[in-house]
Amino acid sequence: MKNLSTKLMLLVLVPIAVLGVLSVVITMRTNAQIIELQATKMAGTVATQVVTDRKHYVQKVVSKLKGSEFGAMEGAAADSPHVPLPATFVMGVADEISKNQQEYSYKLVSRWNVNSGNALGDDFLKSGFDNLLAQEKQAKQDGELSPEKRFSGWKPYAQAMEVDGRQVLRYVTADAAIGASCVSCHNKIELRQEVKEARRQAGVDVGHTFQLNDLMGDRG
Ligand code: HEC
Repeated sequence: MKNLSTKLMLLVLVPIAVLGVLSVVITMRTNAQIIELQATKMAGTVATQVVTDRKHYVQKVVSKLKGSEFGAMEGAAADSPHVPLPATFVMGVADEISKNQQEYSYKLVSRWNVNSGNALGDDFLKSGFDNLLAQEKQAKQDGELSPEKRFSGWKPYAQAMEVDGRQVLRYVTADAAIGASCVSCHNKIELRQEVKEARRQAGVDVGHTFQLNDLMGDRG
């Protein structure tokens, strides 16, 4: 009898033990995937919020004040009557967000950055920008991106990694030249002497000309 019960126990226990181990592995994998999926979704939501805020600010504030004494102006001192440029506005909100919580942070960056603080500061941002440039090139070849045609197929570039001891998801998505004003202002900036010099030093093409719908920067 003793033998039988031991056998029975074993028969029952072995499959459970195996099942248990298997299911734990599967659960852990699924959790990691779910967490990454949720983080990716959140990053996409943040990116949408940022460009929508900027678009609304351009349409409802910047365009209304254009030409007035309050018009958006580059480098306007905090106490001047001028409202900030759209990018400066975005970065101002980004700074405040970072001060208030540590769940997420974002910034506008570019290979052709105007502000030295908005450079592609590390390997992830550089790879992300290369990836987006390759998408731009392919879309142009396929006739899906031109000054007449806005590209709708931009894919984000993301990577889960450890930063300062914390597991984070880093994510970049295209910030394209969606309006003629983006193009004309940034093309003029590329012709400034100090900007040309900065491009030479960074090993980046000098006098880059953007066209409508081109990649300008990314939001990461
Ligand atoms: C009137 C000029 C002007 C217009 C219009 C303009 N920008 Fe900018 N942009 C700037 C300046 C100046 C900066 C740097 C400002 C800062 O960091 O405070 C900048 C910053 C940026 C950056 C961050 C990287 C960098 O260059 O420092 C991106 C990306 C960008 N602009 C994209 C755009 C897009 C897309 C549009 C159109 C929706 C646009 N800009 C419209 C002047 C302009």
